[in-house]
This record gives sequence, structure tokens and C-alpha cells, in this order.
Amino acid sequence: MFGLRSNLRVGLDLGSHSIKLAVVEKVGPRFRLVKWKCSEIYTGGDAYDPEGPKKSVAVPQLMRVMGEIGIAPKKIKRLASCIGGAQVAAKEISSIMMTEAEMASSLLLEARKHIPLDGSETIIDYQILGDDPTESDKVRVLLVATTRKHYETHQDLLREIELKPGIIDIESLAVLNSYLIHSQMPEEGAAIFLQIGARKTNLSVIGRKDMFFTRDLPVAGQFFTDELRRKYGLDYQEAEQVKREQGMNPDIEKKGDTAEDALAVTEKSSMDKLGDEINRSLRFYVKDTGQTVFTHLVLTGGGVMLPGLDEYLSNKFNLPIELYNPFNQLDSRVPIEADNPYQMAPAIGLAIRGDL
Ligand SMILES: Nc1ncnc2c1ncn2[C@@H]1O[C@H](COP(=O)(O)OP(=O)(O)O)[C@@H](O)[C@H]1O
Ligand SMILES: [Mg+2]
Repeated sequence: MFGLRSNLRVGLDLGSHSIKLAVVEKVGPRFRLVKWKCSEIYTGGDAYDPEGPKKSVAVPQLMRVMGEIGIAPKKIKRLASCIGGAQVAAKEISSIMMTEAEMASSLLLEARKHIPLDGSETIIDYQILGDDPTESDKVRVLLVATTRKHYETHQDLLREIELKPGIIDIESLAVLNSYLIHSQMPEEGAAIFLQIGARKTNLSVIGRKDMFFTRDLPVAGQFFTDELRRKYGLDYQEAEQVKREQGMNPDIEKKGDTAEDALAVTEKSSMDKLGDEINRSLRFYVKDTGQTVFTHLVLTGGGVMLPGLDEYLSNKFNLPIELYNPFNQLDSRVPIEADNPYQMAPAIGLAIRGDL
């Protein structure tokens, strides 16, 4: 194993389906990719755990990935990782400018008002997004909150393999950070980001003037796989392969009686369910903010490669699509060959995190 030079930055995204690791180096104003790895957590049979990997599964996998990429966890000086899911919430508010200390205490009160989390102890963080374009004495502040338990569970997992936790971001912001290295937010109106993972799709709305919004939707890659399993009587690996090669209307025979046959009415397709979820969130956003102009859909995350999904979303929302490949934001000495580059968006965003 080699010792990491101290200017290297490591981004770690421990997903429900795979572990993503990116190592970058800052060269002048640009970032160079040094190494990366995306490794499936469950490779054998039906082992996929819909609740997400348990610590007993995640820890050895994380050690394996570190070993394969040739990094000794102890030697990593700059690590950024992320948390996401239902235990994390973010909300933009407008606030008068205050000192750091005033901001911290007053925002804790604000956060309790705005951010719905369960009753357990909440920790908050905030980031100033810029001036409020509507009120000159105010600034745009992004509040981020999570439960102490969720935060500490994540830290424990990192410590288990002797990683110093370093910076912990929220997943949706990690994706946006990678995007904003070289791409711009729309000047007028807002872009809709969809990061389609295995268990959830993260939707974020962002524009130069429009209110930031982010929410997790409970339909993503795993739902498409499960639909194929039910409809065609396939096992997990078969369904995954069919999904990747042929999409949701494959030219294959059903295997025996399937779970779908037992249902009297055919269920809505997973694509329609995803479309409905997106629609519901956007309607909420429009109602909440009064802002209605959406410029385009930015698609990323592993699930985005589902054949036909981009076309479906573009038609449903009548918006142009940008498929966001995070590797394009980085320099590299060797050509980057990735089966699915879209899975790497959060890890790359974490690795380039500036203020480590
Ligand atoms: N080529 C592909 N076509 C369709 N779906 C894919 C493809 N590659 C990966 N996926 C799906 O992407 C999901 C994993 O995406 P990822 O962003 O890594 O999720 P997570 O962050 O939850 O681990 C899985 O549901 C997987 O089936
Ligand atoms: Mg993910």
C-alpha cells in the first residue's frame, strides 16, 4: 500500500447498492482524478438488503474496496463522506446577516420550525448561499439538519476501519458541488436535479435566484429491478441484467406463475410511480415558493442508465434533459472508462470539497 500524498482528497459515498470512492488532486484551479472505484456491495444471489447494508456488511466491504484501490485508511488526511435519507433534511430560509455565534443559535430555533425530524436530538449546520435577491438586507441561508444518532452511526462506521471522519456533507449537496465545478446554475428559473440511486431518488431544485429545495423520493433503481422480478419471475441477478440490457419492457418469457399474475389489477409501472413522485414534489415546490419556471432536468446516479428513462422523463415534464457525467468535471492522465459514470457524482463532489 502506498502512503497518500497529503494534497490528495478522498470522497467516499457509501450507497445502499455500491461503495464509491474518488481520489482527486488539486492542480491550480482544476481537479485531477487520481483513482476511483465503484464496487457493488452485493454480488452473489439474492443478498440485496432493501434496508441498506448493515454495519457487519458495510465494514468488510469498505475495507476490501480500500485494499483494492491501494489506500491505507489511516493515511487518509482529507476525507469527505456523506449522509442522506429520511433522517436528513435541508431547507432554505432568508435571514438578516448576523455574527457566526448569533447565526448558530438563532438557526437552531429556525431549523426546529422548518425541518421535520423525529423528536430525538437534532444537530444542524448552515451555509450562506448568497444575497437574497428580493430583500436587500437579507441573505439566503441553507439549513441542514440530522439526528445525532444518524450522524454518530455514520461516524462509528468510519472509525471502525480507522478512517478519520473529516467532513460529512449531505448527499444532495455533494452532487451539486461536483456539478458546480464547471457548470452554471440557470440565471433565470431553476434546474431540477434527479440523482437516481438504488433505494431512493434525490430531487433537488436549484437556480441562481430561486429557492433551493431537496427531498428524497422512495422510487429508484431497486424498484425497477423488483418490478421485473415480480412480472417475469426472475431472481435478483437475472432481473438486474434484463433491466440494464432491455429496460422495463423486455422481450422475454415469463418463468412460471408470477407474483403479478396473482394480482387482480395491474399495478402502475415503477416509471409512472417515479414520475408521480417527482410531480408531487414539484407541485409542492411551486406552491411553497411561487416559482414556476423550470429550465431542464439534470439526471445522474446509477439508476439513470435504465433504458428509456430519460425519454420518459423528458416527455412527462416536457423539459430538456442533461445527463450529468461527473467525470467530465475532472482532468485525468488516462482515459476514464466507466460502465456507469453517473454513479460517481456524490463521491466526486465530496472529493473536490474545497475547505478541508
Ligand atoms: N446500466 C444500468 N442500467 C440500469 N440501471 C443501472 C445500471 N447500472 C446500475 N444501475 C442501477 O443503479 C442503482 C445503483 O445506483 P447507485 O447510485 O450506485 O445507488 P446507491 O447510491 O443507492 O448505492 C441500482 O439499482 C442498479 O441496478
Ligand atoms: Mg447514492
